[in-house]
Amino acid sequence: MKHLLSASDLSRDEAVLILDTAAAMAATQERAIKKLPTLRGRTVVNLFFEDSTRTRISFETAAKRLSADVINFSARGSSVSKGESLKDTALTLQAMGADAVVIRHQASGAPHVLAQSGWTRGAVLNAGDGTHQHPTQALLDAYTLRHHLVGLRAATDPVGRDLAGLDVVIVGDILHSRVARSNVELLHTLGATVTLVAPPTLVPVGVEPWPCAVSYDFDEVLDAGPDAVMMLRIQRERMVDGGFFPSPWEYTRNYGLDARRLARLPDHTIVLHPGPMNRGLEISADAADSPRAVIVEQVANGVAVRMAALYLLLTGADHMQGETE
Ligand code: NCD
Repeated sequence: MKHLLSASDLSRDEAVLILDTAAAMAATQERAIKKLPTLRGRTVVNLFFEDSTRTRISFETAAKRLSADVINFSARGSSVSKGESLKDTALTLQAMGADAVVIRHQASGAPHVLAQSGWTRGAVLNAGDGTHQHPTQALLDAYTLRHHLVGLRAATDPVGRDLAGLDVVIVGDILHSRVARSNVELLHTLGATVTLVAPPTLVPVGVEPWPCAVSYDFDEVLDAGPDAVMMLRIQRERMVDGGFFPSPWEYTRNYGLDARRLARLPDHTIVLHPGPMNRGLEISADAADSPRAVIVEQVANGVAVRMAALYLLLTGADHMQGETE
């Protein structure tokens, strides 16, 4: 595999290899000296056309911990039309010798265009495109789930490397969420059972073939005792037409995670959120700060997962051909 564009590109073995490599990377991050010489002399470009805090910093940290040179390019505010601006930027970066381009773009499909265009010879890593995909977020979520939950469930595969047998609930603004799309695919690949929960207006048209269940009743789904509850941000910036729910108060009442709902969950159940959170809307402060919440861990795991992805993509495709087991 030359690029990481979509969670659907990953086989079970490839995903497990990335998670195993991330675990090895995380172990190196316990040391006093965190920097590895692995990508010395390589150049990683962070090309961000859309706002980001944690994903950009996470990729930057990951590349630096592997000793790569990092160029941060923030293209926000460009008035050039999207296609041309992406092309011109990519050609410039290629002239600078980028070995990997990490791209976040408001247009779904932009990373695929970049990967297929020949404008850059480097590996392309999708850091979020429109409402489409965010594969490294799904990988860091899978890493976090594996870390906390595997071994607790009998149905998990004997060595506990995938997520077989886990019940994961994803709640909120599914319609606008590339995190949800990537997670549904990757969790399914890794053997987990996924249930999406949202008001009908925030469920995408055409959800039927997705490998997951859909419910409009959060309380009913919580009563089934899921292993993990992933809350999604209400993406107001993508709700240009408005009218997706009657009022924030009503949304919170029906779909918000609060102390009352938290108390109904089994003891082992963990709470995830990709960030940034709207505290008081999709998640209450006591839920976000509860011992069940692994939201800060997700951020730390993101660095290890992105180190693994950069390492595997830049040190040879052979690693990615599923040489596990
Ligand atoms: C997500 C994103 O940008 O898609 N955040 C992230 O990467 N940490 C989710 C979101 O913006 O709500």
